[in-house]
Amino acid sequence: MIRPLPIGVINKIAAGEVVERPASVVKELVENAIDSGAGRIDIIIEKSGTKLIKIVDNGCGIDEEQIEIAFSRHATSKISSFDDLNQLLSYGFRGEALPSIASVSRLRMVSRTAAAASGTEIIFEGGVLHSKEPVAAPPGTVVEVENLFYNTPARRKFLKTETTEARHISRLATALAIGRCEIGFSLTMNNRKLFALTAGTSLTERVSELLGNNEPFLTVVGSAGSVTVAGCIGSPELAQNNRYGQFIFVNGRFIQSPTLSHALAAGYGELLPRGQFPVGALLLTVDPSEIDVNVHPAKTEVRLSREREIHDAICQLIQQTLRNAAIIPTFQTGQPAPLPPRSEAAPDTPDRTSQSSGLIPGVQPQKEFNRTAFEELCRTPSGRTDNDVLTARVDKETGEMLATDREPASKSAPAADLPEGLRLVGRFAELYLLVQWADDLYIIDQHTAHERVLYEEMLPLVERQSVSGQNLLFPVQVELTPEQWSIFEEAGDLLAGSGFTASAFGGRTVNIEAIPAILTRKPPEKTFRQIIDDLASMKKEGHDMKKAIAQSLACRAAVMAGDRLNDDEAVVLVSRLMACRDRYSCPHGRPTFVKITRYDLDRQFKRA
Ligand SMILES: Nc1ncnc2c1ncn2[C@@H]1O[C@H](COP(=O)(O)OP(=O)(O)OP(=O)(O)O)[C@@H](O)[C@H]1O
Ligand SMILES: [Mg+2]
Repeated sequence: MIRPLPIGVINKIAAGEVVERPASVVKELVENAIDSGAGRIDIIIEKSGTKLIKIVDNGCGIDEEQIEIAFSRHATSKISSFDDLNQLLSYGFRGEALPSIASVSRLRMVSRTAAAASGTEIIFEGGVLHSKEPVAAPPGTVVEVENLFYNTPARRKFLKTETTEARHISRLATALAIGRCEIGFSLTMNNRKLFALTAGTSLTERVSELLGNNEPFLTVVGSAGSVTVAGCIGSPELAQNNRYGQFIFVNGRFIQSPTLSHALAAGYGELLPRGQFPVGALLLTVDPSEIDVNVHPAKTEVRLSREREIHDAICQLIQQTLRNAAIIPTFQTGQPAPLPPRSEAAPDTPDRTSQSSGLIPGVQPQKEFNRTAFEELCRTPSGRTDNDVLTARVDKETGEMLATDREPASKSAPAADLPEGLRLVGRFAELYLLVQWADDLYIIDQHTAHERVLYEEMLPLVERQSVSGQNLLFPVQVELTPEQWSIFEEAGDLLAGSGFTASAFGGRTVNIEAIPAILTRKPPEKTFRQIIDDLASMKKEGHDMKKAIAQSLACRAAVMAGDRLNDDEAVVLVSRLMACRDRYSCPHGRPTFVKITRYDLDRQFKRA
């Protein structure tokens, strides 16, 4: 027997799509309140919404004779034909939210239009009309949802802990409030007021109050084709290890968009370490005909035409904003960073115990720093000796095959290149260069700084696949693990354009005949494996392979902690760093320097 389902069952099934969790109820009801033209909306929650969700608005209200219809399926005042979806400016359009919510809870609504003398109270229990009567009420609408999912035990059982559900609600309420600055919002949970925002605040005020503990945010404004973008983004220090701090809106609608989220993070680029995500809000305004809102039952996704273009434009806009703001990590006076436990010391930081015995892991203490790489750094592009065939010698201590030293192209730093007033005043721990510039002291990490300089040089070459290789006098063979082998197979062509001549040699062995010129002071076998490992981990995280190769080359070729630079070299390194496009961090997102201002120091010494 095929027969139509009873309407109550249909509503409960629809509720399964529309009302996934308490936060979805909050979303639907607040969106209705916004659609009603309210200037103020209060959200009151008890027991993460399972006991009570109450939304109060001062919007247009519903007429007594319309109120029951609002609870029937597919009844809406917002569209009347499918074509209206192309010009949609409201949140609602399906006419599904109220009947769905009413079918899985006990729902009471009191509503009054400005013109009516009194309001109407209507109560539903499990979707069944319980009562409807006139009551005294101010203009606007109050909806109270109690005992959510009481009649759908499976749904109730799958709710996460109270804290998780509460977190979803506060994130959602935050999003709704960011999306509509012209409306006053408050959120109260278990009698505690979490925020109360007056109507008409600026986006920056709202975002920094809601997301940044009142830290300053950077304002993003611009347009990308037919899309205009307004936004507020936090400094890299506010970044989090998840995406919960990101709020993206299209025409005021809070949406989840992996593409736009990616554009935001990509704009920060290397200012953020791996696994860190920026905090901020982006509000896109698009001609309504350019988006399709009807692709997801809960309307949390929209389809944008020309998404790729918008992605790239946003990414650039963010980059520009950050660059204009010249984000510099500043020295935190008053709260020195705790020393890491010894086992967690950064791999290239000299370990105290081994240092006292004269050994630094990975670095020969007496050995000179990577001169070849450094010369590469000092040399002007025209001075490159690209096709040099390298003669080799064997390092007596380590047995490593080393490139012979070549005469430096420029023996010392050309003074004219130096930023004015830049002066090396000292070194610390064989790693940090202390530089005075104007009135400020800069502490520069020589490894990350060099990495940045090399990366910016290498990236265009890797992208054009025109990195020059140096032939090794004696080819070397490297045995790879199966995982490394698969990376090698995949990235082989790109590596060939990046200065490596490496070919399969039977089994999982690779025969290396040439390596990029900047690596010639490093043992080729070990470096090659390291680079393959770098690529493997960057690939897992979805990085662009060419960028990954440039990053890895820069990292492996850069001077290490413990490599001693002479004064000229140090100054050249710093001035090259200062000429870099993104000088504040290495390609992995670690800072290249911190600045201590005169004022910071004066304050520390109680002079200011
Ligand atoms: N807070 C409110 N103030 C004024 N009218 C409201 C309010 N909430 C609901 N309504 C009216 O009830 C109707 C039904 O609401 P409902 O949320 O079920 O559907 P919708 O908002 O039209 O579409 P959607 O299912 O996409 O949300 C709305 O179209 C609107 O006319
Ligand atoms: Mg609605």
